[in-house]
Amino acid sequence: MAGGIVHAVDPHTPDSMQQLMPSAGAGGSLPPLDPDPSQAFLRNLERFGVRDCVIYHRAPSVEVAARWRGERVRLLYIDGLHTYDAVRDDYNAWKPFLADEHVVLFDDYLWEAVGRAVDDLRPQAASRFFYVRGGHAIFSTTRLATCIIGLP
Ligand SMILES: C[S@@+](CC[C@H](N)C(=O)[O-])C[C@H]1O[C@@H](n2cnc3c(N)ncnc32)[C@H](O)[C@@H]1O
Repeated sequence: MAGGIVHAVDPHTPDSMQQLMPSAGAGGSLPPLDPDPSQAFLRNLERFGVRDCVIYHRAPSVEVAARWRGERVRLLYIDGLHTYDAVRDDYNAWKPFLADEHVVLFDDYLWEAVGRAVDDLRPQAASRFFYVRGGHAIFSTTRLATCIIGLP
């Protein structure tokens, strides 16, 4: 994020959500897989009036990082594949581009593989402070007065 611009990175393939909805489309109670989730994503940006401040990269996170020539990242929010390797690779891919002062949020820290990856990344993190709030793990270079949706 820089100057109010958010870079959203997601391949939005029909099966990129499959890890979270393993029975989708298999006759279960979940809805069938969306053949093109990017359309719903773009509609939501319009709906909430934020289309102009979001640059959309429709590709896997590590690929976008590998060709990143943009500004340094002050807020990195990791909420991609929830496997150990993917969380580790997402963080390591973006770590060189973190601004001197930054915050990294990991969604679903309470998910076993995510938590394990974050715990293993902590010793090599480019930031000094660590918090867990509302299911998020947070690496930060500065002390934060954190409070997420009313949670302590
Ligand atoms: C738990 S969902 C979160 C989506 C969004 N952050 C939200 O809260 O609505 C996980 C997302 O990770 C995306 N994803 C899967 N593989 C990815 C990758 N290699 N790089 C970036 N995003 C990925 C999926 O397409 C899916 O949209």
